[in-house]
Amino acid sequence: MVRVPCASEECGFAGAVRAGLGARPKSLPCRFFYDDEGSRLFEEICSLPEYYATRTEREILLRAAPEIAEAAGAGTALAELGSGSSAKTKLLIEALLARQDELHYVPIDISTAFLEESSRALLGRFPRLRITAIGGEYLDAVPHLPPRDGPLLCLFLGGNVGNLEEEEASAFLAGVASGLSPRDRLLVGFDRLKERTVIERAYDDRAGVTAAFNRNLLTRINRELGGEFDLDAFDHAAPFVAERSRIEMHLVSRRPQEVRVAALGQTFSFDRGETIHTENSHKYDRAGIDRLCETAGLTVVRLWSDPREWFSLVLLAPVRGREA
Ligand code: TRP
Repeated sequence: MVRVPCASEECGFAGAVRAGLGARPKSLPCRFFYDDEGSRLFEEICSLPEYYATRTEREILLRAAPEIAEAAGAGTALAELGSGSSAKTKLLIEALLARQDELHYVPIDISTAFLEESSRALLGRFPRLRITAIGGEYLDAVPHLPPRDGPLLCLFLGGNVGNLEEEEASAFLAGVASGLSPRDRLLVGFDRLKERTVIERAYDDRAGVTAAFNRNLLTRINRELGGEFDLDAFDHAAPFVAERSRIEMHLVSRRPQEVRVAALGQTFSFDRGETIHTENSHKYDRAGIDRLCETAGLTVVRLWSDPREWFSLVLLAPVRGREA
């Protein structure tokens, strides 16, 4: 296991909370969702009846994995940005191992506990697999991709590209593209634009798992920074904002309140209805996918969707002449 230190300005939780809750509008970076409890809740979200994305992407992979493996070429190594439990990746590992004798898999994830667990499980199941796990934020891990002889297939699944702001997404994809050689490929999962109610239900499930996932940020502030957040005093809200083609997740203060965070020596005030913006999830039409990839210096090699076009897997190559 290789650990990559965080490179962004506000790496630490304390600094991020101080900056985010001190700003107006208030916000918190979504990478702090994923402590052990958050990662567990996220896995639960993925199998909720309302949360179509994981299921749909899996369905597409089930069908497309052999074609993706073929397109990746002989002797491919596999990397994955934000691998989580690597559940869907098994399908691609199987498809690649059907075409080559061995496979080097490089999962990158912020939750090292999950990385260890899923890597062990994969090694137990696939004897011809070799794993180099990288613990860290995937935005920081790209320069640490191991050297390789053959082509690399780099996965960025789950519609996670949609959690970045548009400029961040194109800068991030451009960063990945610049680390690819001409024969390498990037496979990105895009959540597609669809009926509003379908999207909104996916981020506000009846069982309240997504709400618990969102509130877990406050639990984390309470536990790690001596915060005094009353969890019942914040509502989970996740409206689809059509002008920006995205779900916005917020924690909404139910009343005017002051919340002390001991480790910061600070008290934050909230008006009634004031929100902490915790995450975005952009939804794309085909033109949006093309635009984003083009500005990132990537070209669409092939695109697979489910019959309803609720989700797409897009195989990308670095644009000739742009690569370093
Ligand atoms: N990237 C996926 C999405 O936006 C998964 C995800 C990230 C998610 N954060 C989430 C799902 C919060 C539900 C709630 O859909």
